[in-house]
Amino acid sequence: MNRKVIIATENLGKFREIKELLLDDFDEFYSLRDFKERVEIVEDSPIYIENALKKARKVGNRFGYNTISDDSGLEVDALNGRPGILSSRYGKNDNERIEKLLFELKDVPWEKRTARFVAYVIFYMPEKGTFYGFYGDLKGYICFEKKGDRGFGFDPVFYLPEYDRYLAEIELIEKNKISHRGKAILALKSFLNAEFFK
Ligand code: IMP
Repeated sequence: MNRKVIIATENLGKFREIKELLLDDFDEFYSLRDFKERVEIVEDSPIYIENALKKARKVGNRFGYNTISDDSGLEVDALNGRPGILSSRYGKNDNERIEKLLFELKDVPWEKRTARFVAYVIFYMPEKGTFYGFYGDLKGYICFEKKGDRGFGFDPVFYLPEYDRYLAEIELIEKNKISHRGKAILALKSFLNAEFFK
């Protein structure tokens, strides 16, 4: 199998996390920022895996390399699962999204601030037209204030009780071992090794 892969994202936080897990499996990694041509992807499905598949297919067919895409989100129980699939559109940037979340949860007590990250990953092979899907999640609590400067997105307000730390306090390698995206990508890695890299 060709050992070049596109990680279909403009988000460098996501790109770094996924690449780090697959360093042994591929020789060359590209993000959407590595191509001059912009591929317009409208993530308009209410179903994560459909958005991931749409993204992977469009990018893989356009550039001709095997492609990994993920659609992820933060589901907060006190907000009935919001922002969920709309997480990236919950505000203009990470800071605005965090401020909005803390404001919406300002009267919610600690024990009701439970939440989970979910990640749906697609591996698409344009030459064969085949695709494979993987899932991971990570449970925790939304804190009252920000802490830590690692990671991206909602990491500074996501608390992990088992580790007594915020996600933004954890190193990339550690985050990858426990995170929603890490779990989905590790499942993809096992699959690739069993099927193609024997
Ligand atoms: P999308 O998958 O590009 O639609 O964006 C998912 C959004 O969910 C991101 O923009 C973040 O706001 C949030 N998110 C997903 N995964 C993570 C993570 O690992 N840490 C923090 N925020 C995340």
